[in-house]
Amino acid sequence: MSTTKPIKHFLQFSDFTLAEFEYVIERAAIIKRKFKSYEIYHPLIDRTLVMVFEKNSTRTRLSFEAGMHQLGGAAIYLNTRDSQLGRGEPVEDAGQVMSRMCDIIMVRTFGQEIIERFAANSRVPVINGLTNEHHPCQVLADIFTFVEHRGAIAGKTVAWIGDANNMLYSWLQAAEVFGFHLNVSTPKGYDIDHSLVSTERFTFFDNPSDACEGAHLVTTDVWTSMGFEKENAERLQAFDGFMVDASKMARAAADALFMHCLPAHRGEEVSADVIDGPQSVVWDEAENRLHVQKALIEYLLLGRIEPAGHAPD
Ligand code: CP
Ligand code: NVA
Repeated sequence: MSTTKPIKHFLQFSDFTLAEFEYVIERAAIIKRKFKSYEIYHPLIDRTLVMVFEKNSTRTRLSFEAGMHQLGGAAIYLNTRDSQLGRGEPVEDAGQVMSRMCDIIMVRTFGQEIIERFAANSRVPVINGLTNEHHPCQVLADIFTFVEHRGAIAGKTVAWIGDANNMLYSWLQAAEVFGFHLNVSTPKGYDIDHSLVSTERFTFFDNPSDACEGAHLVTTDVWTSMGFEKENAERLQAFDGFMVDASKMARAAADALFMHCLPAHRGEEVSADVIDGPQSVVWDEAENRLHVQKALIEYLLLGRIEPAGHAPD
């Protein structure tokens, strides 16, 4: 019988418990303070992150690469075009090989089953940097951002307006873990895939303005996610009326925040006056990818680092 501890991955939001998220968020705040005060913090000297990108990225690549550097380690970027993945090497083989050379792996790919197969063949932690079904690192950054601005998210209402995409499914999982409620409004024909949902903490609204009523946070995302570009023209028509604009924000709580994972299309899913307005925290959200992912990597590689004077539990 093997006594080897199973490898901890972060493949979807529900992979972590509330206690683990609370710990990671607490560490993210500490790590952010160190970064802001130029305090050198190198717990990961000689550790290497490999990042596998099968889709484009600005924020995810930059935050993981800069984050690993700031923790004293190194990051290596691979994409489909230049690596053997683009020539048909099985993900199972890639997982085996990469995990023998590196300490931690981040993958951005298409179907969730691809990253699951990758992780099943990895000796080291694998982090989901976005799949068609989930974007857990972004929602972790968003929750950290909400907590920074407004305190605990438990008991609050988040309005999701737009596509039923990877961000929505990670938000739905987060609602279950953190104990908040989602008001969801998607256009007809772009409905929630209920096979991806295992929470009852949401209410569906046909009318996107109604979904914003009383919300503490209004959030949206592009109408056409990566991999679905061929549908762009028909989506533009189907999503007419779903732009988050000033009239929808006016239905939300007076101090409601606006979030968008970026990149954004002003004049499509969000109006310029909302994303560039006083309720928008999109730049904090983007920056916080760096801090939460550093805390996530630290946790996956080193486990809990107890503050001085606190006994480990
Ligand atoms: N929000 C996000 O994941 O951005 P990128 O696609 O630029 O990584
Ligand atoms: N839903 C978007 C998020 C981009 C960060 C996509 O998958 O393209």
